[in-house]
Amino acid sequence: MKIGNTVESLASYFKEFPKSKVIFLVGAGISTSCGIPDFRSPETGLYHNLSKLKLPFAEAVFDIDFYEENPEPFYTLAKELYPGNFKPSKFHYMMKLFQDKKRLERIYTQNIDTLERLAGIRSELIVEAHGSFADNHCISCGEEYPQEVFKSRLEECSKIDGKFDYAACVKCQSFIKPKIVFFGEDLPKRFFDTWAQDLETMQQSSKNGSEVVVIVAGTSLAVYPFASLPTEVPNTVVRGLMNKNTVGDFSKHPRKSDFLLTGDLDELATELMEHLGWSKEFNDLIVT
Ligand code: OAD
Repeated sequence: MKIGNTVESLASYFKEFPKSKVIFLVGAGISTSCGIPDFRSPETGLYHNLSKLKLPFAEAVFDIDFYEENPEPFYTLAKELYPGNFKPSKFHYMMKLFQDKKRLERIYTQNIDTLERLAGIRSELIVEAHGSFADNHCISCGEEYPQEVFKSRLEECSKIDGKFDYAACVKCQSFIKPKIVFFGEDLPKRFFDTWAQDLETMQQSSKNGSEVVVIVAGTSLAVYPFASLPTEVPNTVVRGLMNKNTVGDFSKHPRKSDFLLTGDLDELATELMEHLGWSKEFNDLIVT
């Protein structure tokens, strides 16, 4: 099976195989149009704009060892990035429409912005590989805190007499941390369990004609183990990349069956909806 490198040919594939379903593997690029910077884009990416946090290296802001020594940069950034201030993008709503059309198998997201949930995608179809701000706990005693409690503590975080007053646990005074996966921490068990299950579905799909397509979008595929998922997709399953640039396994080990749709994700999503004849429902979903 070969899908060409145009949105039109992807739409033709979905029409030709009406039972086919998509597994999306996504990253920060699907949320940049919402006003949330991605991490590695030159000039605009978060890691290029953290000088105010005075970090020894950019990724330290999400490094567990660094955080335990100096939590201030993370809380400063978390205030800025906290979910609630942003709306889903067209790309999110496109994925929601795949769900409504019963064509969505799963979304694996590296994003912690919870915009997939906000777009109305059901939680069982979303795997938040790097966790989210939804659950919070004390890193020392493990006390769990609801999202609202952490959010209000975060809002109170401030510098008093040069000392940073971080979100502290009421029981042991250690730090309350959202269950975002930091460098040096394990990914949630659900990530591994669901991927094993979906690999099985992919293997079966080519045998029973139900067809699964894997679409990677808005990620540099720079962070493992997430970046290894496209490599693990069985050869019998078609993979595609929707992104500004070609990344990861799509440039290092391209497969003959891969398709590449290069460009802006919201524009590609809009075009795909047009070719599928889904524009009316798509536009109805988009909250302006
Ligand atoms: P990156 O910033 O590494 O990659 C974002 C990708 O999206 C880049 O290839 C951009 O070119 C592309 N992109 C951005 N905006 C786009 C647009 N409007 N249209 C098309 N493409 C666009 O972000 P991730 O790959 O998600 O982890 O980063 C992975 C992980 O690194 C994050 O989850 C985070 C970070 O460290 C943790 O914090 C644990």
